[in-house]
Amino acid sequence: MARTSSPTRVDACAPRRRLRPREAKDNVAFMNASTNPNKALWEKGDFTRIADTMREGGEALVQRLGITKELKVLDLGCGDGTTALPAAKLGADVLGIDIARNLVEAGNRRAAEHGLTNLKFQEGDASNLEQVPDKSFDLVVSIFGAMFAPKPFDVAKEMVRVTRPGGRIVMGNWIPNDPTLVAQILKISSNYTPPPPEGFVSPMTWGVESNVIERFTAAGVPKENISFDRNTFIFNFPGTPAGFVEEFRKYYGPTMNAFEAAGKNGKADELQKQLEELFNSQNKGQNATSIPATFLRVTVSV
Ligand SMILES: C[S@@+](CC[C@H](N)C(=O)[O-])C[C@H]1O[C@@H](n2cnc3c(N)ncnc32)[C@H](O)[C@@H]1O
Repeated sequence: MARTSSPTRVDACAPRRRLRPREAKDNVAFMNASTNPNKALWEKGDFTRIADTMREGGEALVQRLGITKELKVLDLGCGDGTTALPAAKLGADVLGIDIARNLVEAGNRRAAEHGLTNLKFQEGDASNLEQVPDKSFDLVVSIFGAMFAPKPFDVAKEMVRVTRPGGRIVMGNWIPNDPTLVAQILKISSNYTPPPPEGFVSPMTWGVESNVIERFTAAGVPKENISFDRNTFIFNFPGTPAGFVEEFRKYYGPTMNAFEAAGKNGKADELQKQLEELFNSQNKGQNATSIPATFLRVTVSV
């Protein structure tokens, strides 16, 4: 498969060795940031600072998922609950799984603050959900989450395995080379980061329909059960576009890595300038920053 560039490429998805049986038994304990670069990337900084700008977009997206009371929902790569929390507010029984311990803790704090006893967060890896029984969810949601896990074929297989027959999987994936915000942040940043290791598969390949079909059909889903549409996700930041770039620079792991690499080559100012131009050109807000970004919505009937 062709390699495409992304700032998350080096850290987020470096190939990992297969777990030995004893390690696999206690996979969560095994997952520590010093041995797992995918985990280290997302525990870096504080993604909650970015997620705070995604709350309205998350609510709007969840409203369109047809969530009803007592539906069993898994939110994979859930972060601190941008979509898991509104799903639980609609009465679903929600489990959020994420590789980053700090985001799982933040999610459980947010669930408690909202008095939601039907929402739990736990650590786990979308490439290996061995702690989750087969066919246990009506709906598996992954919004800009599982796309960042390594081993995309394993990710598709795991999502299908934990969905009950008749259930659904919904993914939101950024689209490579799309002209809107996130694809462009990733593209610009990739110009400043070292090339990925051999065999690396870019997260952005989840934004290409043929790849998505290949992965889910390999997991046993008929092609006609996979559908696509393009949606818009809004980021709202209560400050200037330059202030929003600063949040990414300080708190978003992939952008932090890009600035670190750019800094070593004396190019941090150049990267800052390019990102500010991007954020300014995409901003639709007047007194605050409001930026729409296009994503590929994937719906799979299991
Ligand atoms: C861009 S954030 C999106 C978070 C959340 N879905 C949201 O919309 O706010 C990507 C999330 O995927 C998680 N993630 C990355 N690799 C993962 C993996 N292998 N397994 C589970 N979660 C993962 C990260 O920790 C992070 O929370």
